Amino acid sequence: MKILITGANGMLAKSVRKRLEKGNELICTDVADLDITDEKAVMEFVTNAKPDYIINCAAYTAVDKAEEAGEIVRKINADGPKNLAIAAKTVDAPLVHISTDYVFGGDLDIEKEYKEEDEKHPVTAYGITKLEGEEKIKENTDKYYIFRTAWLYGDGNNFVRTMLKLGETKDEINVVADQHGSPTYAEDLANIIGEAIEKKIPYGIYHATNEGFTTWYDFTKAIFEYAGIICQVNPVTTEKYIEMMKITQAKRPKNSQMSKEKLLEQGIQIPEWEDALKRYLQAEGKM
Ligand SMILES: NC(=O)c1ccc[n+]([C@@H]2O[C@H](COP(=O)([O-])OP(=O)(O)OC[C@H]3O[C@@H](n4cnc5c(N)ncnc54)[C@H](O)[C@@H]3O)[C@@H](O)[C@H]2O)c1
Repeated sequence: MKILITGANGMLAKSVRKRLEKGNELICTDVADLDITDEKAVMEFVTNAKPDYIINCAAYTAVDKAEEAGEIVRKINADGPKNLAIAAKTVDAPLVHISTDYVFGGDLDIEKEYKEEDEKHPVTAYGITKLEGEEKIKENTDKYYIFRTAWLYGDGNNFVRTMLKLGETKDEINVVADQHGSPTYAEDLANIIGEAIEKKIPYGIYHATNEGFTTWYDFTKAIFEYAGIICQVNPVTTEKYIEMMKITQAKRPKNSQMSKEKLLEQGIQIPEWEDALKRYLQAEGKM
């Protein structure tokens, strides 16, 4: 199959490329080759290349900066997916797109989890524009997969790499213990995307994170335990963390757990987050 990947230099895209390189012809583009906000360029590129699938890994992902960045966030997260959806429909190629737990309010009771169709209530510029991106895709093509993921780590700057660095240089650190979610290894999400395409599961929106839930605090303790790092981890509230670090932050979800039932019903395997973390640390030479 001929597969066009946009935002191909990003963290998730690196895993997607690795997962799909065998047996497929990949056309990898990032903003320098194909700016997804340029409607004309997208249509021209797609109609020339005539891909069988388009996988959009491009996004404006800096959650805090997005609060102040203005229209560029909407252009990349909402208009970009719209341009790709229109072009994809023109060549009859399904569009694969990645969204986020930030489309929800994030204030669900801890024992509950979001289902795909639950009410959306984004409270950040990032979440609002990512939800707009989902809606624009739905308005412009029927052949789409939207995978909502969360707490992604892989080959790029991410929480695990930051914690490893801190753990190796500090005796003690403070980590937020009142935000709940599912850490997700980019390789596992790339595999879900690959399987979805290969199995031709029904089009639609799917929640796609690793299985299980944790807090940033417990996640950090697991990183240190598996990597054999001795560093005291202190649990703090989000409020306290912001105060201690003297930072301003976009609002973070307290609980953004998402049910994977819909994906599991399609026979797709989803590894537990602890297992994923161990594989990542091994791949990074830290275990
Ligand atoms: N990182 C996370 O924790 C996380 C969590 C939930 C959802 N997601 C979603 O997963 C997807 C992948 O995230 P990631 O962390 O790999 O992102 P990333 O920031 O590593 O990569 C994004 C890529 O998009 C490219 N890009 C930016 N603007 C572009 C444009 N106008 N045209 C073409 N390319 C452009 C960038 O150059 C970059 O290579 C995104 O849709 C993101 O919203 C990420």
